Amino acid sequence: VNGSARQSSPLFTVQSPNVVYTADEIKSQYAYQTTEITRTADNKLVATPKATNYNFKVDRKVGKIGMMLVGWGGNNGSTVTAGILANRRGLSWETREGKQTSNYYGSIVMSSTVKLGTDTKTGEEINIPFHDLLPMVHPNDLAIGGWDISSMNLAESMDRAQVLEPSLKVLVRKEMAEMKPLPSIYYPDFIAANQEDRADNVLEGTKACWAHVEKIQQDIRDFKAANGLDKVIIMWTANTERYADIIPGVNDTADNLINSIKTGHEEVAPSTVFAVAAILENTPFINGSPQNTFVPGALQLAEQRRAFIGGDDFKSGQTKMKSALVDFLINAGIKLTSIASYNHLGNNDGKNLSSQKQFRSKEISKSNVVDDMVAANHILYEKDEHPDHTVVIKYMPAVGDNKRALDEYYAEIFMGGHQTISLFNICEDSLLASPLIIDLVVLAEMMTRVSWKTDEEGAEYKGFHSVLSILSYMLKAPLTPPGTPVVNALGKQRSALINIFRACVGLQPESEMTLEHKLF
Ligand code: NAI
Repeated sequence: VNGSARQSSPLFTVQSPNVVYTADEIKSQYAYQTTEITRTADNKLVATPKATNYNFKVDRKVGKIGMMLVGWGGNNGSTVTAGILANRRGLSWETREGKQTSNYYGSIVMSSTVKLGTDTKTGEEINIPFHDLLPMVHPNDLAIGGWDISSMNLAESMDRAQVLEPSLKVLVRKEMAEMKPLPSIYYPDFIAANQEDRADNVLEGTKACWAHVEKIQQDIRDFKAANGLDKVIIMWTANTERYADIIPGVNDTADNLINSIKTGHEEVAPSTVFAVAAILENTPFINGSPQNTFVPGALQLAEQRRAFIGGDDFKSGQTKMKSALVDFLINAGIKLTSIASYNHLGNNDGKNLSSQKQFRSKEISKSNVVDDMVAANHILYEKDEHPDHTVVIKYMPAVGDNKRALDEYYAEIFMGGHQTISLFNICEDSLLASPLIIDLVVLAEMMTRVSWKTDEEGAEYKGFHSVLSILSYMLKAPLTPPGTPVVNALGKQRSALINIFRACVGLQPESEMTLEHKLF
Protein backbone atom coordinates (compact mmCIF):
# COMPACT_ATOMS: atom_id res chain seq x y z
CA VAL A 1 0.00 0.00 0.00
CA ASN A 2 1.48 3.35 -0.85
CA GLY A 3 1.24 6.44 1.35
CA SER A 4 -1.62 8.07 -0.52
CA ALA A 5 -3.80 4.96 -0.40
CA ARG A 6 -3.20 4.68 3.33
CA GLN A 7 -4.28 8.22 4.10
CA SER A 8 -7.41 8.23 1.91
CA SER A 9 -9.49 6.52 4.58
CA PRO A 10 -8.54 7.65 8.05
CA LEU A 11 -9.45 5.31 10.92
CA PHE A 12 -11.57 8.01 12.56
CA THR A 13 -12.99 11.42 11.78
CA VAL A 14 -13.96 14.09 14.26
CA GLN A 15 -17.53 15.28 14.17
CA SER A 16 -17.48 18.81 15.49
CA PRO A 17 -18.34 22.30 14.26
CA ASN A 18 -14.71 23.14 15.04
CA VAL A 19 -13.20 20.63 12.64
CA VAL A 20 -13.32 20.71 8.86
CA TYR A 21 -11.94 18.03 6.55
CA THR A 22 -11.14 18.75 2.93
CA ALA A 23 -9.41 16.45 0.48
CA ASP A 24 -6.10 18.13 1.23
CA GLU A 25 -6.41 19.46 4.78
CA ILE A 26 -7.79 19.06 8.27
CA LYS A 27 -8.58 22.39 9.88
CA SER A 28 -9.46 22.74 13.53
CA GLN A 29 -10.31 25.48 15.97
CA TYR A 30 -8.98 24.70 19.39
CA ALA A 31 -9.36 26.35 22.78
CA TYR A 32 -6.09 25.86 24.63
CA GLN A 33 -6.86 25.82 28.36
CA THR A 34 -4.13 26.99 30.72
CA THR A 35 -3.98 28.35 34.26
CA GLU A 36 -2.47 31.73 34.97
CA ILE A 37 -0.97 32.35 38.40
CA THR A 38 -0.57 35.73 40.04
CA ARG A 39 0.46 36.63 43.58
CA THR A 40 -1.38 38.85 46.00
CA ALA A 41 0.34 41.47 48.16
CA ASP A 42 0.57 38.93 51.01
CA ASN A 43 2.11 36.38 48.61
CA LYS A 44 -0.92 34.14 48.18
CA LEU A 45 -1.41 32.48 44.79
CA VAL A 46 -4.36 33.26 42.57
CA ALA A 47 -5.14 30.81 39.78
CA THR A 48 -7.15 32.03 36.80
CA PRO A 49 -8.32 29.69 34.05
CA LYS A 50 -7.46 30.99 30.63
CA ALA A 51 -8.47 29.88 27.15
CA THR A 52 -6.49 30.84 24.06
CA ASN A 53 -7.97 30.08 20.67
CA TYR A 54 -5.75 28.52 18.08
CA ASN A 55 -6.44 27.34 14.56
CA PHE A 56 -4.52 24.31 13.40
CA LYS A 57 -4.12 23.07 9.87
CA VAL A 58 -2.78 19.66 8.89
CA ASP A 59 -1.70 18.95 5.35
CA ARG A 60 -3.10 15.47 4.64
CA LYS A 61 -0.81 14.72 1.68
CA VAL A 62 2.14 12.83 3.11
CA GLY A 63 4.03 12.52 -0.15
CA LYS A 64 7.13 10.44 -0.70
CA ILE A 65 9.61 10.71 2.14
CA GLY A 66 13.28 9.83 2.43
CA MET A 67 15.43 9.27 5.48
CA MET A 68 19.16 9.99 5.26
CA LEU A 69 21.35 8.74 8.08
CA VAL A 70 24.74 10.15 8.93
CA GLY A 71 26.58 7.07 10.22
CA TRP A 72 24.45 4.80 8.03
CA GLY A 73 26.97 1.96 8.27
CA GLY A 74 26.96 1.90 12.07
CA ASN A 75 25.09 -0.44 14.36
CA ASN A 76 21.96 1.72 14.46
CA GLY A 77 22.10 2.62 10.78
CA SER A 78 22.43 -0.95 9.53
CA THR A 79 19.91 -2.31 12.03
CA VAL A 80 17.17 0.21 11.27
CA THR A 81 17.69 -0.31 7.55
CA ALA A 82 17.42 -4.10 7.76
CA GLY A 83 14.41 -3.71 10.05
CA ILE A 84 12.54 -1.52 7.60
CA LEU A 85 13.36 -3.79 4.65
CA ALA A 86 12.14 -6.80 6.61
CA ASN A 87 8.91 -5.06 7.63
CA ARG A 88 8.33 -3.79 4.11
CA ARG A 89 8.52 -7.35 2.79
CA GLY A 90 6.67 -8.84 5.77
CA LEU A 91 9.53 -11.23 6.42
CA SER A 92 9.69 -13.93 9.04
CA TRP A 93 12.72 -16.02 9.92
CA GLU A 94 13.72 -18.96 12.07
CA THR A 95 15.36 -18.38 15.43
CA ARG A 96 16.21 -20.93 18.11
CA GLU A 97 13.01 -19.83 19.85
CA GLY A 98 10.87 -20.43 16.76
CA LYS A 99 9.59 -18.30 13.93
CA GLN A 100 10.00 -14.55 14.36
CA THR A 101 8.00 -12.05 12.33
CA SER A 102 8.98 -8.46 11.51
CA ASN A 103 7.51 -5.82 13.79
CA TYR A 104 8.02 -2.27 14.96
CA TYR A 105 8.17 -2.97 18.70
CA GLY A 106 9.75 -0.10 20.59
CA SER A 107 8.32 2.52 18.25
CA ILE A 108 5.81 4.76 20.00
CA VAL A 109 4.37 5.67 16.61
CA MET A 110 3.97 2.13 15.27
CA SER A 111 3.44 0.03 18.38
CA SER A 112 1.73 2.15 21.00
CA THR A 113 -1.94 3.05 21.20
CA VAL A 114 -3.78 6.16 22.27
CA LYS A 115 -7.18 6.36 23.90
CA LEU A 116 -9.49 8.06 21.43
CA GLY A 117 -12.62 8.03 23.59
CA THR A 118 -15.42 5.82 24.87
CA ASP A 119 -17.84 3.71 22.83
CA THR A 120 -21.36 5.13 23.26
CA LYS A 121 -22.94 1.65 23.11
CA THR A 122 -20.66 -0.47 25.25
CA GLY A 123 -18.93 2.13 27.40
CA GLU A 124 -15.68 0.52 26.30
CA GLU A 125 -12.47 2.52 25.95
CA ILE A 126 -11.49 2.82 22.31
CA ASN A 127 -7.74 2.78 21.74
CA ILE A 128 -6.23 3.41 18.35
CA PRO A 129 -2.70 3.06 17.01
CA PHE A 130 -0.71 6.25 17.59
CA HIS A 131 0.04 6.16 13.88
CA ASP A 132 -3.63 6.76 13.09
CA LEU A 133 -3.94 10.00 15.09
CA LEU A 134 -2.89 12.06 12.08
CA PRO A 135 -1.89 11.18 8.51
CA MET A 136 1.73 10.06 9.03
CA VAL A 137 4.23 8.45 6.71
CA HIS A 138 4.51 4.68 7.17
CA PRO A 139 8.11 3.62 7.86
CA ASN A 140 7.77 0.88 5.25
CA ASP A 141 7.44 3.64 2.64
CA LEU A 142 10.64 5.50 3.58
CA ALA A 143 13.43 5.69 1.03
CA ILE A 144 16.70 5.12 2.89
CA GLY A 145 20.15 6.54 2.23
CA GLY A 146 23.01 8.30 3.94
CA TRP A 147 26.68 8.78 4.61
CA ASP A 148 29.43 6.98 6.47
CA ILE A 149 33.18 7.43 6.82
CA SER A 150 33.41 3.65 6.46
CA SER A 151 33.03 2.31 2.93
CA MET A 152 31.36 -0.99 3.80
CA ASN A 153 28.07 -1.68 2.09
CA LEU A 154 25.09 -2.21 4.37
CA ALA A 155 25.31 -6.01 4.21
CA GLU A 156 28.89 -5.88 5.45
CA SER A 157 27.95 -3.28 8.05
CA MET A 158 25.18 -5.47 9.36
CA ASP A 159 27.68 -8.32 9.77
CA ARG A 160 30.12 -6.02 11.55
CA ALA A 161 27.36 -4.84 13.89
CA GLN A 162 26.60 -8.40 15.11
CA VAL A 163 23.04 -7.48 15.99
CA LEU A 164 20.67 -9.43 13.76
CA GLU A 165 20.00 -13.17 13.50
CA PRO A 166 21.86 -14.92 10.65
CA SER A 167 18.56 -16.27 9.31
CA LEU A 168 17.21 -12.72 8.96
CA LYS A 169 20.45 -11.41 7.47
CA VAL A 170 20.27 -13.99 4.69
CA LEU A 171 16.86 -12.69 3.66
CA VAL A 172 17.86 -9.03 3.38
CA ARG A 173 21.47 -9.51 2.32
CA LYS A 174 21.02 -8.90 -1.40
CA GLU A 175 19.18 -5.62 -0.97
CA MET A 176 21.51 -4.48 1.80
CA ALA A 177 24.59 -5.22 -0.33
CA GLU A 178 23.35 -2.80 -2.96
CA MET A 179 23.23 0.02 -0.43
CA LYS A 180 26.46 1.91 -0.04
CA PRO A 181 27.00 4.98 2.12
CA LEU A 182 28.07 8.22 0.48
CA PRO A 183 31.53 9.44 1.47
CA SER A 184 31.41 11.69 4.51
CA ILE A 185 33.43 14.35 6.23
CA TYR A 186 35.94 13.25 8.84
CA TYR A 187 37.67 15.68 11.19
CA PRO A 188 39.70 13.25 13.33
CA ASP A 189 39.88 15.61 16.28
CA PHE A 190 36.15 15.26 16.99
CA ILE A 191 35.81 11.49 17.44
CA ALA A 192 38.00 8.98 19.24
CA ALA A 193 41.38 8.19 17.68
CA ASN A 194 40.37 4.50 17.78
CA GLN A 195 37.89 5.16 14.92
CA GLU A 196 40.59 6.02 12.42
CA ASP A 197 40.94 2.55 10.93
CA ARG A 198 37.37 2.55 9.63
CA ALA A 199 37.62 5.97 7.98
CA ASP A 200 38.17 4.86 4.37
CA ASN A 201 35.26 6.71 2.74
CA VAL A 202 36.00 10.35 3.37
CA LEU A 203 35.90 13.62 1.50
CA GLU A 204 39.12 15.56 1.18
CA GLY A 205 39.92 17.95 4.04
CA THR A 206 40.21 17.47 7.78
CA LYS A 207 38.49 20.64 8.95
CA ALA A 208 35.35 22.54 8.06
CA CYS A 209 35.09 24.19 4.65
CA TRP A 210 32.24 25.49 2.55
CA ALA A 211 32.83 22.84 -0.12
CA HIS A 212 31.75 20.24 2.48
CA VAL A 213 28.49 22.09 3.11
CA GLU A 214 27.81 22.32 -0.62
CA LYS A 215 28.64 18.66 -1.19
CA ILE A 216 26.17 17.57 1.49
CA GLN A 217 23.52 19.89 0.05
CA GLN A 218 24.12 18.34 -3.36
CA ASP A 219 23.91 14.82 -1.88
CA ILE A 220 20.50 15.67 -0.41
CA ARG A 221 19.24 17.02 -3.75
CA ASP A 222 20.59 14.03 -5.64
CA PHE A 223 18.96 11.58 -3.23
CA LYS A 224 15.64 13.40 -3.57
CA ALA A 225 15.83 13.40 -7.35
CA ALA A 226 16.97 9.77 -7.65
CA ASN A 227 14.08 8.55 -5.50
CA GLY A 228 11.43 11.04 -6.60
CA LEU A 229 11.04 12.36 -3.06
CA ASP A 230 9.01 15.27 -1.76
CA LYS A 231 10.96 15.56 1.46
CA VAL A 232 14.00 14.20 3.27
CA ILE A 233 14.67 13.97 7.00
CA ILE A 234 18.30 13.70 8.16
CA MET A 235 19.38 11.92 11.34
CA TRP A 236 22.81 12.04 12.92
CA THR A 237 23.43 8.50 14.17
CA ALA A 238 27.18 8.71 13.66
CA ASN A 239 29.78 8.53 16.42
CA THR A 240 29.54 10.73 19.46
CA GLU A 241 31.78 13.72 18.94
CA ARG A 242 33.55 15.73 21.59
CA TYR A 243 31.94 19.01 22.58
CA ALA A 244 32.83 22.01 20.47
CA ASP A 245 34.01 25.04 22.45
CA ILE A 246 31.59 27.93 22.19
CA ILE A 247 33.77 30.83 21.16
CA PRO A 248 32.51 34.38 20.67
CA GLY A 249 32.99 35.39 17.04
CA VAL A 250 33.30 31.75 15.91
CA ASN A 251 30.07 29.85 16.46
CA ASP A 252 27.92 32.18 18.56
CA THR A 253 25.84 33.61 15.71
CA ALA A 254 24.64 32.31 12.36
CA ASP A 255 26.86 34.70 10.42
CA ASN A 256 29.91 33.91 12.51
CA LEU A 257 29.36 30.17 12.15
CA ILE A 258 29.03 30.41 8.38
CA ASN A 259 32.13 32.53 8.25
CA SER A 260 34.02 30.05 10.44
CA ILE A 261 33.13 27.23 8.09
CA LYS A 262 34.24 29.30 5.11
CA THR A 263 37.58 30.13 6.77
CA GLY A 264 38.16 26.60 8.03
CA HIS A 265 38.00 27.17 11.78
CA GLU A 266 39.09 24.06 13.69
CA GLU A 267 36.29 24.25 16.24
CA VAL A 268 33.44 23.40 13.82
CA ALA A 269 32.35 19.78 14.19
CA PRO A 270 31.30 17.53 11.29
CA SER A 271 27.84 17.23 12.81
CA THR A 272 27.49 21.03 12.77
CA VAL A 273 28.55 21.13 9.11
CA PHE A 274 25.83 18.56 8.36
CA ALA A 275 23.31 20.58 10.37
CA VAL A 276 24.15 23.76 8.48
CA ALA A 277 23.82 22.00 5.12
CA ALA A 278 20.48 20.49 6.15
CA ILE A 279 19.16 23.83 7.42
CA LEU A 280 20.14 25.54 4.18
CA GLU A 281 18.27 22.82 2.28
CA ASN A 282 15.29 23.29 4.59
CA THR A 283 15.59 19.64 5.54
CA PRO A 284 14.79 18.66 9.14
CA PHE A 285 17.94 17.54 10.97
CA ILE A 286 17.82 15.50 14.18
CA ASN A 287 20.87 14.77 16.31
CA GLY A 288 20.80 11.31 17.90
CA SER A 289 24.15 11.72 19.67
CA PRO A 290 24.99 13.76 22.75
CA GLN A 291 27.44 16.39 21.44
CA ASN A 292 26.56 20.07 21.11
CA THR A 293 26.01 20.02 17.34
CA PHE A 294 23.56 22.86 17.71
CA VAL A 295 25.96 25.58 18.79
CA PRO A 296 24.21 28.95 19.20
CA GLY A 297 25.04 29.92 15.61
CA ALA A 298 23.43 26.75 14.22
CA LEU A 299 20.33 27.35 16.31
CA GLN A 300 20.08 30.90 15.09
CA LEU A 301 20.53 29.81 11.47
CA ALA A 302 17.69 27.29 11.84
CA GLU A 303 15.42 29.98 13.27
CA GLN A 304 16.30 32.43 10.52
CA ARG A 305 15.56 29.81 7.85
CA ARG A 306 12.51 28.40 9.64
CA ALA A 307 14.11 24.97 9.29
CA PHE A 308 13.38 22.19 11.77
CA ILE A 309 16.03 20.81 14.08
CA GLY A 310 15.82 18.41 17.01
CA GLY A 311 18.08 16.63 19.48
CA ASP A 312 20.02 15.52 21.38
CA ASP A 313 20.96 11.88 22.02
CA PHE A 314 18.58 8.93 21.64
CA LYS A 315 16.83 8.02 24.88
CA SER A 316 16.78 4.27 24.57
CA GLY A 317 17.64 2.24 27.67
CA GLN A 318 19.03 3.46 30.96
CA THR A 319 17.84 7.05 30.64
CA LYS A 320 14.37 6.04 29.52
CA MET A 321 14.04 3.95 32.67
CA LYS A 322 15.43 6.85 34.68
CA SER A 323 13.01 9.42 33.33
CA ALA A 324 10.10 7.08 34.12
CA LEU A 325 11.31 5.85 37.52
CA VAL A 326 12.38 9.22 38.90
CA ASP A 327 9.10 10.73 37.74
CA PHE A 328 7.33 8.01 39.72
CA LEU A 329 9.48 8.32 42.87
CA ILE A 330 9.35 12.09 43.21
CA ASN A 331 5.67 12.27 42.29
CA ALA A 332 5.03 9.62 44.94
CA GLY A 333 6.55 12.02 47.48
CA ILE A 334 9.66 9.90 47.94
CA LYS A 335 12.94 11.76 48.26
CA LEU A 336 15.42 10.33 45.81
CA THR A 337 18.86 11.10 47.22
CA SER A 338 21.27 9.39 44.83
CA ILE A 339 21.50 7.67 41.48
CA ALA A 340 24.55 5.63 40.60
CA SER A 341 24.55 4.51 36.96
CA TYR A 342 27.09 2.10 35.56
CA ASN A 343 27.18 0.91 31.96
CA HIS A 344 29.34 -1.45 30.05
CA LEU A 345 29.03 -2.16 26.39
CA GLY A 346 31.12 -3.73 23.68
CA ASN A 347 29.98 -2.20 20.41
CA ASN A 348 31.72 0.49 18.40
CA ASP A 349 29.81 3.18 20.30
CA GLY A 350 31.41 1.86 23.49
CA LYS A 351 34.82 1.84 21.85
CA ASN A 352 34.41 5.47 20.81
CA LEU A 353 33.14 6.42 24.27
CA SER A 354 36.20 4.84 25.90
CA SER A 355 37.96 8.02 24.88
CA GLN A 356 37.64 10.72 27.56
CA LYS A 357 36.40 13.68 25.51
CA GLN A 358 33.67 11.66 23.81
CA PHE A 359 32.66 10.09 27.13
CA ARG A 360 32.36 13.61 28.54
CA SER A 361 29.68 14.45 25.91
CA LYS A 362 27.71 11.38 27.01
CA GLU A 363 28.21 12.15 30.68
CA ILE A 364 26.77 15.64 30.28
CA SER A 365 23.81 14.32 28.30
CA LYS A 366 23.05 11.63 30.88
CA SER A 367 23.47 13.85 33.92
CA ASN A 368 20.75 16.47 33.66
CA VAL A 369 17.85 14.14 33.05
CA VAL A 370 16.17 14.46 36.44
CA ASP A 371 16.53 18.22 36.96
CA ASP A 372 12.99 19.23 36.04
CA MET A 373 11.42 16.57 38.27
CA VAL A 374 13.57 17.59 41.24
CA ALA A 375 12.96 21.31 40.71
CA ALA A 376 9.19 20.74 40.61
CA ASN A 377 9.04 19.40 44.19
CA HIS A 378 10.03 22.02 46.76
CA ILE A 379 8.66 19.89 49.59
CA LEU A 380 11.39 17.28 49.10
CA TYR A 381 14.18 19.51 47.80
CA GLU A 382 15.47 22.93 48.83
CA LYS A 383 16.20 25.39 46.05
CA ASP A 384 19.25 24.15 44.07
CA GLU A 385 19.36 20.87 46.02
CA HIS A 386 19.90 17.80 43.81
CA PRO A 387 20.25 14.07 44.30
CA ASP A 388 23.84 12.84 43.89
CA HIS A 389 24.16 11.47 40.37
CA THR A 390 27.10 9.62 38.86
CA VAL A 391 27.43 8.04 35.43
CA VAL A 392 30.15 5.54 34.50
CA ILE A 393 30.62 3.91 31.09
CA LYS A 394 33.14 1.17 30.36
CA TYR A 395 34.07 -0.54 27.10
CA MET A 396 33.82 -4.32 27.39
CA PRO A 397 34.16 -5.82 23.89
CA ALA A 398 32.81 -9.25 24.83
CA VAL A 399 29.25 -8.09 25.47
CA GLY A 400 28.99 -6.49 22.03
CA ASP A 401 25.74 -4.63 21.40
CA ASN A 402 24.11 -6.10 24.53
CA LYS A 403 24.66 -3.14 26.77
CA ARG A 404 24.53 -3.64 30.52
CA ALA A 405 23.15 -0.82 32.61
CA LEU A 406 23.31 -1.15 36.39
CA ASP A 407 21.55 1.53 38.37
CA GLU A 408 21.10 2.06 42.06
CA TYR A 409 18.42 4.48 43.19
CA TYR A 410 18.67 5.41 46.86
CA ALA A 411 15.76 7.26 48.41
CA GLU A 412 14.56 8.60 51.72
CA ILE A 413 11.08 7.49 52.75
CA PHE A 414 8.77 8.14 55.72
CA MET A 415 10.41 9.16 59.02
CA GLY A 416 14.00 8.70 57.91
CA GLY A 417 13.63 5.24 56.39
CA HIS A 418 15.33 4.26 53.14
CA GLN A 419 14.39 2.54 49.92
CA THR A 420 17.03 1.17 47.58
CA ILE A 421 16.10 0.11 44.08
CA SER A 422 18.68 -1.81 42.12
CA LEU A 423 18.18 -2.26 38.41
CA PHE A 424 20.10 -4.50 36.07
CA ASN A 425 19.00 -3.67 32.58
CA ILE A 426 20.44 -5.65 29.67
CA CYS A 427 19.32 -3.98 26.50
CA GLU A 428 20.17 -4.76 22.95
CA ASP A 429 21.26 -1.25 22.18
CA SER A 430 20.65 -0.94 18.48
CA LEU A 431 17.34 -2.77 18.66
CA LEU A 432 16.15 -0.13 21.12
CA ALA A 433 17.61 2.80 19.19
CA SER A 434 16.35 1.81 15.72
CA PRO A 435 12.65 2.33 16.48
CA LEU A 436 13.55 5.72 17.95
CA ILE A 437 15.11 6.70 14.64
CA ILE A 438 11.86 5.73 12.94
CA ASP A 439 9.77 7.72 15.43
CA LEU A 440 11.97 10.79 15.11
CA VAL A 441 11.76 10.68 11.32
CA VAL A 442 8.00 10.08 11.19
CA LEU A 443 7.22 12.76 13.79
CA ALA A 444 9.63 15.35 12.37
CA GLU A 445 8.05 14.83 8.95
CA MET A 446 4.59 15.17 10.50
CA MET A 447 5.57 18.52 11.99
CA THR A 448 6.44 19.85 8.53
CA ARG A 449 2.73 19.51 7.68
CA VAL A 450 1.23 21.17 10.77
CA SER A 451 0.63 24.90 10.92
CA TRP A 452 -1.23 27.21 13.26
CA LYS A 453 -2.59 30.73 13.55
CA THR A 454 -4.33 32.83 16.14
CA ASP A 455 -7.93 33.98 15.90
CA GLU A 456 -6.96 37.52 15.04
CA GLU A 457 -8.23 39.14 11.85
CA GLY A 458 -5.75 38.61 9.04
CA ALA A 459 -3.55 36.18 11.01
CA GLU A 460 -1.59 33.85 8.74
CA TYR A 461 -0.74 30.20 9.24
CA LYS A 462 2.82 29.51 10.33
CA GLY A 463 4.84 26.52 11.47
CA PHE A 464 5.97 25.42 14.91
CA HIS A 465 9.25 26.74 16.33
CA SER A 466 12.38 25.49 14.55
CA VAL A 467 13.47 23.57 17.63
CA LEU A 468 11.15 20.58 17.73
CA SER A 469 10.87 20.01 21.48
CA ILE A 470 7.83 17.83 20.71
CA LEU A 471 10.41 15.09 19.97
CA SER A 472 11.63 15.07 23.59
CA TYR A 473 10.20 11.62 24.39
CA MET A 474 12.84 10.01 22.17
CA LEU A 475 15.74 12.16 23.34
CA LYS A 476 17.96 12.16 26.40
CA ALA A 477 18.86 15.84 26.49
CA PRO A 478 15.92 17.46 24.73
CA LEU A 479 16.67 20.62 22.84
CA THR A 480 14.03 23.29 23.40
CA PRO A 481 13.53 26.76 21.93
CA PRO A 482 15.96 29.17 23.65
CA GLY A 483 14.63 30.34 27.00
CA THR A 484 11.96 27.62 27.30
CA PRO A 485 11.98 24.86 29.94
CA VAL A 486 13.29 21.36 29.30
CA VAL A 487 10.92 18.54 30.21
CA ASN A 488 12.57 15.18 30.91
CA ALA A 489 9.71 13.36 32.65
CA LEU A 490 8.69 10.58 30.28
CA GLY A 491 4.96 10.73 31.01
CA LYS A 492 4.78 14.48 30.42
CA GLN A 493 6.72 14.15 27.18
CA ARG A 494 4.29 11.55 25.85
CA SER A 495 1.27 13.59 26.91
CA ALA A 496 2.59 16.70 25.17
CA LEU A 497 3.08 14.79 21.95
CA ILE A 498 -0.29 13.09 21.98
CA ASN A 499 -2.25 16.12 23.12
CA ILE A 500 -0.73 18.41 20.50
CA PHE A 501 -1.69 15.87 17.85
CA ARG A 502 -5.20 15.62 19.35
CA ALA A 503 -5.48 19.41 19.22
CA CYS A 504 -4.69 19.25 15.50
CA VAL A 505 -7.97 17.38 15.03
CA GLY A 506 -9.85 19.54 17.54
CA LEU A 507 -9.85 17.03 20.42
CA GLN A 508 -9.25 18.05 24.02
CA PRO A 509 -6.39 16.33 25.95
CA GLU A 510 -7.28 12.97 27.44
CA SER A 511 -7.80 13.96 31.08
CA GLU A 512 -8.09 10.42 32.53
CA MET A 513 -10.89 11.69 34.78
CA THR A 514 -13.38 9.02 33.61
CA LEU A 515 -16.09 10.85 35.51
CA GLU A 516 -18.65 8.74 33.69
CA HIS A 517 -17.55 5.77 35.81
CA LYS A 518 -17.16 7.59 39.09
CA LEU A 519 -20.39 9.42 39.85
CA PHE A 520 -23.52 8.16 41.60
P1 NAI B 1 28.38 2.99 15.66
O1 NAI B 1 29.73 3.40 16.10
O2 NAI B 1 28.10 1.57 15.37
O3 NAI B 1 27.97 3.81 14.35
C1 NAI B 1 28.41 5.09 14.09
C2 NAI B 1 28.78 5.20 12.61
O4 NAI B 1 29.10 6.54 12.31
C3 NAI B 1 29.99 4.36 12.22
O5 NAI B 1 29.67 3.51 11.15
C4 NAI B 1 31.03 5.41 11.83
O6 NAI B 1 31.86 4.94 10.80
C5 NAI B 1 30.16 6.54 11.39
N1 NAI B 1 30.74 7.90 11.43
C6 NAI B 1 31.55 8.46 12.34
N2 NAI B 1 31.80 9.74 12.02
C7 NAI B 1 31.11 10.00 10.89
C8 NAI B 1 30.95 11.14 10.08
N3 NAI B 1 31.58 12.29 10.36
N4 NAI B 1 30.16 11.06 9.01
C9 NAI B 1 29.52 9.90 8.69
N5 NAI B 1 29.64 8.78 9.42
C10 NAI B 1 30.43 8.84 10.50
O7 NAI B 1 27.40 3.57 16.77
P2 NAI B 1 25.86 3.23 17.02
O8 NAI B 1 25.75 2.19 18.05
O9 NAI B 1 25.16 3.05 15.73
O10 NAI B 1 25.40 4.62 17.70
C11 NAI B 1 25.37 5.80 16.92
C12 NAI B 1 25.29 7.02 17.80
O11 NAI B 1 24.05 7.00 18.50
C13 NAI B 1 26.39 7.13 18.86
O12 NAI B 1 26.82 8.46 18.96
C14 NAI B 1 25.68 6.75 20.12
O13 NAI B 1 26.24 7.38 21.26
C15 NAI B 1 24.30 7.29 19.85
N6 NAI B 1 23.32 6.64 20.69
C16 NAI B 1 23.06 5.29 20.57
C17 NAI B 1 22.15 4.68 21.40
C18 NAI B 1 21.86 3.24 21.23
O14 NAI B 1 22.38 2.59 20.38
N7 NAI B 1 20.97 2.69 22.06
C19 NAI B 1 21.47 5.43 22.44
C20 NAI B 1 21.82 6.82 22.50
C21 NAI B 1 22.69 7.38 21.62
